[in-house]
Amino acid sequence: MAAPKEIFLKDYKMPDYYFDSEEDYNLDSRHLTLKSLPSGVFTLEILTEMYPQKNTSLEGLYKSSGNFCTQCEAEGFRKITFYQDRPDIMAKYTCRIEADKSLYPVLLSNGNLTEQGDLEGNRHYALWEDPFKKPCYLFALVAGQLESRDDTFITRSGRKVALRIWTPAQDVAKTAHAMYSLKAAMKWDEDVFGLEYDLDLFNIVAVPDFNMGAMENKSLNIFNSRLVLASPETASDADYAAILGVIGHEYFHNWTGNRVTCRDWFQLSLKEGLTVFRDQEFSSDMGSRPVKRISDVSKLRNSQFPQDAGPMAHPVRPHSYIKMDNFYTGGPFFKVNLSEFSRFQGMDLYFKRHDGQAVTCEDFYAAMRDANNADFANFLLCQEVPPTPGQPIKEPMFIPVAVGLLDSTGKEVPLSSVHHDGIVQSIANNGQPVYTTVLRVTKEFVAKAITLPGEGEIMDMMEVADPDAVHAVRSFIRKQLAHELKAELLSTV
Ligand code: PHE
Ligand code: ZN
Repeated sequence: MAAPKEIFLKDYKMPDYYFDSEEDYNLDSRHLTLKSLPSGVFTLEILTEMYPQKNTSLEGLYKSSGNFCTQCEAEGFRKITFYQDRPDIMAKYTCRIEADKSLYPVLLSNGNLTEQGDLEGNRHYALWEDPFKKPCYLFALVAGQLESRDDTFITRSGRKVALRIWTPAQDVAKTAHAMYSLKAAMKWDEDVFGLEYDLDLFNIVAVPDFNMGAMENKSLNIFNSRLVLASPETASDADYAAILGVIGHEYFHNWTGNRVTCRDWFQLSLKEGLTVFRDQEFSSDMGSRPVKRISDVSKLRNSQFPQDAGPMAHPVRPHSYIKMDNFYTGGPFFKVNLSEFSRFQGMDLYFKRHDGQAVTCEDFYAAMRDANNADFANFLLCQEVPPTPGQPIKEPMFIPVAVGLLDSTGKEVPLSSVHHDGIVQSIANNGQPVYTTVLRVTKEFVAKAITLPGEGEIMDMMEVADPDAVHAVRSFIRKQLAHELKAELLSTV
């Protein structure tokens, strides 16, 4: 084997064997095959040269507004180095970052910062070690000019956790609500699920170029800036609610997704459905439960229903995929219905059985079944309508739900007007009340009640959807209402 052409890293020590010529390895667009490996156990080092500043895919390591950052879920880690890029391959990571000190003063990765220091030529380095085994989709690295809002959280067992939210200097002032949300989420997960944070440091980084909402990388969550930054002058109630929900969501992934992860990407809904359930419960507890539910259902109607009615429709658990990215739709996140479960029962057993493992949706059902001592066989089915003569295939049946409003004395309230606290009862077709919620008529509820249905929901009711007309008419009505009711609306604030 020949001598290496060039060494890129300063303190890099050459290994005993190296593979650097065509005879030693085979490389095609999907595989790196090494020939004549030493026998027995050995350590493999792969040195990869790359140009993240040229990477415009928003996957792997790339540059966003002058800062380097990563996005590895679902299959981005393979753009950083050769690896068995699958969620069931779990390992401990050590990450050494070296960079110019003025251009990249902040160097972050997963886990604990175990060493840092200055080097020659105005360079510096940081060594990060993550003590937890994780799949590579949770790896993260950030290098750039960032400043942080710092705070601390004391866990219920008395451990002190340093919390840092990193943004460009001018945005730090806008991170107060995000920090409030993070601390609320940490406390809530302890109180409701008995789940504590497991490291001494938790970092959040806001970046402007990010495809999705945010990413739950172990102890280094990376967010689209819009879900971290809020200033009272410009942010709406919906913006604050979205930040609370998504900060909670990424934080809650630490247990549902990171500590217990997915065996393969067909199990995406295992981590996403469960974590969305957790963030919805969190938001419900922090604000108005009915308003949260109405918002979530209307989001489903506006974006999920049209998708399910079109060519993009797919099962929550797909049977195959060409590119995993195409399955990050509302389905695996929002169509998993866990509301029948008490939020305590079963989760403890799920963590006890599967902490540190890569598991399947069936493992979750099994834990729920065993802890609740119940038969959830129906849970996996949606609806079964047996054929009748002449009709071999039956359409799904409607499930009739009656809705009524009662006032505090039990008297019926007309559905067209809600003036005071009331009780909504949905009665299933067998006459039994299945769900009872006390509606507190808060300002939050009034705001929701006078919100027009979304464009998707309106188009869903049309024979032939006309987006331009729906948009024009809806905008006109909104403006007209705002105009006519201006005095009343302002006086209720
Ligand atoms: N896992 C992320 C979340 O739950 C979503 C995501 C998926 C982000 C794929 C980036 C890429 O918030
Ligand atoms: Zn998620």
